[in-house]
Amino acid sequence: MTSETEAKPDSRLKVKIGTVELENPTILASGVLGVAAGGLISASNFGAGAVVTKTVGWKPRSGHPGPRVVGLHGDSMMNAMGIPNPGIRDYIPEIKAVVKQEIPVIGSALGTSPKEFARVATHLAKAGVSAVELNISCPHVGSLYLLGMDPDAVAEVVSEVVEQTEKQVPIWVKLPGSTDYPRLIQVAKAAQTAGAAALVALNTLPALAIDVDARRPLLGAGIGGLSGPAIKPIALRAVWELHNAGMNIPIIGVGGILTGQDAIEYLLAGATAVEIGTGVLTRGRAIFSKVCNEIGVYLTEYNIKHVSELTGQMAKFEVNS
Ligand SMILES: Cc1cc2nc3c(=O)[nH]c(=O)nc-3n(C[C@H](O)[C@H](O)[C@H](O)COP(=O)(O)O)c2cc1C
Repeated sequence: MTSETEAKPDSRLKVKIGTVELENPTILASGVLGVAAGGLISASNFGAGAVVTKTVGWKPRSGHPGPRVVGLHGDSMMNAMGIPNPGIRDYIPEIKAVVKQEIPVIGSALGTSPKEFARVATHLAKAGVSAVELNISCPHVGSLYLLGMDPDAVAEVVSEVVEQTEKQVPIWVKLPGSTDYPRLIQVAKAAQTAGAAALVALNTLPALAIDVDARRPLLGAGIGGLSGPAIKPIALRAVWELHNAGMNIPIIGVGGILTGQDAIEYLLAGATAVEIGTGVLTRGRAIFSKVCNEIGVYLTEYNIKHVSELTGQMAKFEVNS
């Protein structure tokens, strides 16, 4: 690693998401580095303050047929992975290997029913994760996306998970990629009331890409999820809408972050921390230390003592009706 990519400890960047303490506000987003422990550990070595595991379900899933990922203009991409994963029992050793490194590990959970979500979350909690992130929002697994847009269904899942995990682990809820902000607020409020400890906004957005020569979709599954800079303004607005709606649990912003400035925008909109996904693939793992160093430069430039002072500090403005 060059000095530019080294993670320099900076106590001004330490954040707390409820009870979870992070060295800095950058988190590896779920899925982009696959299931192996090595990928998650390397993200931490490159400066991530925490890592989210690949989403894991109760039973193994082989995922969708290929192609599963297509690059778009700039750093954006679409994927329709279909959440391939080995199932919770076979994934536990990998997760334990990451937990052993004393990195805050967030276990991403999937279920086909509230009870199954709870069973997976309970196994993750026993493996020692610092929090469980519920994936109720994957846009290329139709049932999950529908679940995530339904406040009552989300409340049912979160209540069951909170009850079964006996409050031993904080439950984060990852919201669906959508511009239906009023609905996202309803879902977020339902999750908060049901006991969620944090909100993660957003998952990928439902999208389509076409191969004009073959006249068929580029992705094997047909439809997919859009990520990267193309979704940043949408996810940023979602964070701002949630913050404005008076959520009293932390919000974690995710979507299209490539630079410290991108991360600072999310913090100003109301986020406590950010997750980075596609940027890790297009810019490399050193993106974590780069984003942290750039946030540090901003704090120095504006004489701000601690990164938490940025949360929700965008100037208020009137929305014309
Ligand atoms: C290849 C790929 C795989 C992903 N897998 C998952 C996953 O397993 N679970 C999940 O909750 N999100 C998954 N995501 C979504 C990301 O975690 C993130 O929410 C989204 O990509 C937006 O952030 P970004 O623009 O920084 O990538 C995946 C994204 C990509 C690009």
